[in-house]
Amino acid sequence: MPLTHTRELFAKALKGKYALGAFNVNNMELLQAIVEACEEEKAPVMLQISKGARQYANPVYLKKLIEAAVSLSTIPIAVHLDHGDTFELCKECIDEGFTSVMIDASHEPFEKNVEITRKVAEYAHKYNCVVESELGHLVGAQFDEGEEGGAHSVSGHYTVPEEAVKFVKESGCDSLAVAIGNSHGAYKFKGTQHLDLGRLKLIKKALMDAGLGDYPLVLHGASSVPKELAEEINKYGGKLGTDTAGVPEADIEVARRTGCTKVNIDTDLRLAMTAAIRKVMTENPKEFDPRKYLGPARIKVKDLVRHKIKDVLCCAGHAFD
Ligand code: G3H
Ligand code: 13P
Ligand code: ZN
Repeated sequence: MPLTHTRELFAKALKGKYALGAFNVNNMELLQAIVEACEEEKAPVMLQISKGARQYANPVYLKKLIEAAVSLSTIPIAVHLDHGDTFELCKECIDEGFTSVMIDASHEPFEKNVEITRKVAEYAHKYNCVVESELGHLVGAQFDEGEEGGAHSVSGHYTVPEEAVKFVKESGCDSLAVAIGNSHGAYKFKGTQHLDLGRLKLIKKALMDAGLGDYPLVLHGASSVPKELAEEINKYGGKLGTDTAGVPEADIEVARRTGCTKVNIDTDLRLAMTAAIRKVMTENPKEFDPRKYLGPARIKVKDLVRHKIKDVLCCAGHAFD
């Protein structure tokens, strides 16, 4: 089965009111864990590849690994560039057959972000490739609440609903990553910080009211950073801080129901993989066969993906809608 188009996955997800998991892939074990969980649970899936993943694994290896996964499974699989930072990188991925790309020029001023996104969209659309862009900055616990740049800052780091409408109309992007207090990594919030889900509702409504329909929104930084994974890592010699914090799963559910069609998860996969490897290494210090620790790591990631798609994103069972 060839790749399934991101556009088709979005349309079905919006209709079925579920979210697609967009899981980051860097190596064979992660890919197998994700695809096997989705195959068993009959879930459509988006595999996403960052610039760092391409540098780590080599684009050709990733392409061939994904080809293998597609040929061994029956579920719809789309392939997406995560956080493309230049037109050239996006073009490379479009030319390689990715079904969607993200151009992330969110650090640029509004007009420049529009200009770069429009350039990617014009090229991508000639090849029927979907374009995700981001408006606003992802922030996190590196800032204090209320402080310049902080998650609760009034200085404009969040996506502003009216600007989202203008941005989508002027740039021609097909999906929009929102900044509502979300951030990457294992230390997302401090104290009482949390996602601004009210703002998400306003963004969705503004896009709808502006005639853009049920427009697909994207939630980056959607790992929930389970405490038990952080504890397991530390139990087996890790040194994660005591202040790890992710997005509560209940909030992801609200985001899903509010129209976040694509939900990005990477950190939780990293934590699961690391916890399993550390456990084997600690309990069996004489072990040196990589299959003995990468095997359990693959199983742990697979269990985590199964939980996400069944209990949080609700895309399980929708592969053949
Ligand atoms: O958003 C970032 C993703 O987790 C990818 O991370 O750039 O380290 O591959 P990376
Ligand atoms: P997490 O760090 O929360 O997993 O977010 C991943 C992400 O947004 C990839 O683009
Ligand atoms: Zn991201």
